[in-house]
Amino acid sequence: SKGNHRHFMLKEIYEQPIVVAQTLRSYLRRLDGELAMPAQDFDLASVKRVTIVACGTSYYAGCVAKYWFEQFARVPVDIDVASEFRYREPVMEEGGLALFISQSGETADTLAALRHARASGQKIAVVVNVPTSTMAREADLLLPTHAGPEIGVASTKAFTCQLAVLAAFAANLARAKGRLSRDEEKALVRHLSETPAALNGALAYDEAIEQVAQGIAKARDVLYLGRGPDYPLALEGALKLKEISYIHAEGYAAGEMKHGPIALIDENVPVIVLAPSGPLFEKTVSNMQEVQARGGQVVLISDYDGIQQAGEGCIATITMPKVHPLIAPLVYAIPVQLLAYHVAVAKGTDVDQPRNLAKSVTVE
Ligand code: F6R
Repeated sequence: SKGNHRHFMLKEIYEQPIVVAQTLRSYLRRLDGELAMPAQDFDLASVKRVTIVACGTSYYAGCVAKYWFEQFARVPVDIDVASEFRYREPVMEEGGLALFISQSGETADTLAALRHARASGQKIAVVVNVPTSTMAREADLLLPTHAGPEIGVASTKAFTCQLAVLAAFAANLARAKGRLSRDEEKALVRHLSETPAALNGALAYDEAIEQVAQGIAKARDVLYLGRGPDYPLALEGALKLKEISYIHAEGYAAGEMKHGPIALIDENVPVIVLAPSGPLFEKTVSNMQEVQARGGQVVLISDYDGIQQAGEGCIATITMPKVHPLIAPLVYAIPVQLLAYHVAVAKGTDVDQPRNLAKSVTVE
């Protein structure tokens, strides 16, 4: 049931602090400051390369994870959308790890990619939300998300739970490879443990986001910009908006704007900038200012410090709690989801059952 929420999507957005906490419990021992992993029959330390394959929102979770696997575990990562993977004749060395991410565990392209990787001698890890799904059954290493049933067609809570699992998995891989001191492990566990509270902090800005959405609902095109692990969040923001409000939206790496898309900018195009303060903040802000100099209407999503520093000249700002860069992609998922939701409600579209879409795509 939707409880006292108007749509399943909104209920599922609000469930995130609880289901992310529930998911993290399987991957960390908070009180001991230790990472934990489900049992596996192979040595994580032997993983030399990770190949990530998924579709849609699950693919964007994989794009975020690529940063984590490379940054923490120093393991090279290949990533593809499942519908492209098999056809490019990917090179997979014997003993590599192939990682599939899927809410349903039934997406036809992802499943076909999984079987292709298995036939190419890869170990198979899956991040799935439905524990009885086909992908869960075919995995060597099952990494469950505990988001509970996701009813809204637009994925929300499954996404943040996937990110939680992937962050913990990347940290586990780093530890197995001897790349994490005991103190670093404790620090990572502490940052991850702060996620549920930070998600609650982000949800507290729902009304402010609803206000911003009234303006966005009038737009014909919307751009989303981000850098580093927040770049895939820009892609996810654009996908969410397209799916449920039918407004044309695109996500770009902030630094790519000047290589073409900036030509689209005028005073009718809202540009949503995802810029948590941290190592990439200054660079993102300078890209944002290039957009503003051309009349772009910027909505800046950042923390208090970021907004103090760069909020002037924006048509609106949305304040997020200040968090460690590791968990920023989880926290910034909330405004991205709520913005799409409130725009769709303002436009009167069918939020839970958007046109032309199915919850699980079982044809290739
Ligand atoms: C977007 C959305 C889709 C799914 C995609 C993969 O809101 O829901 O893009 O993420 O169809 O589905 P799963 O994760 O079930 O493989």
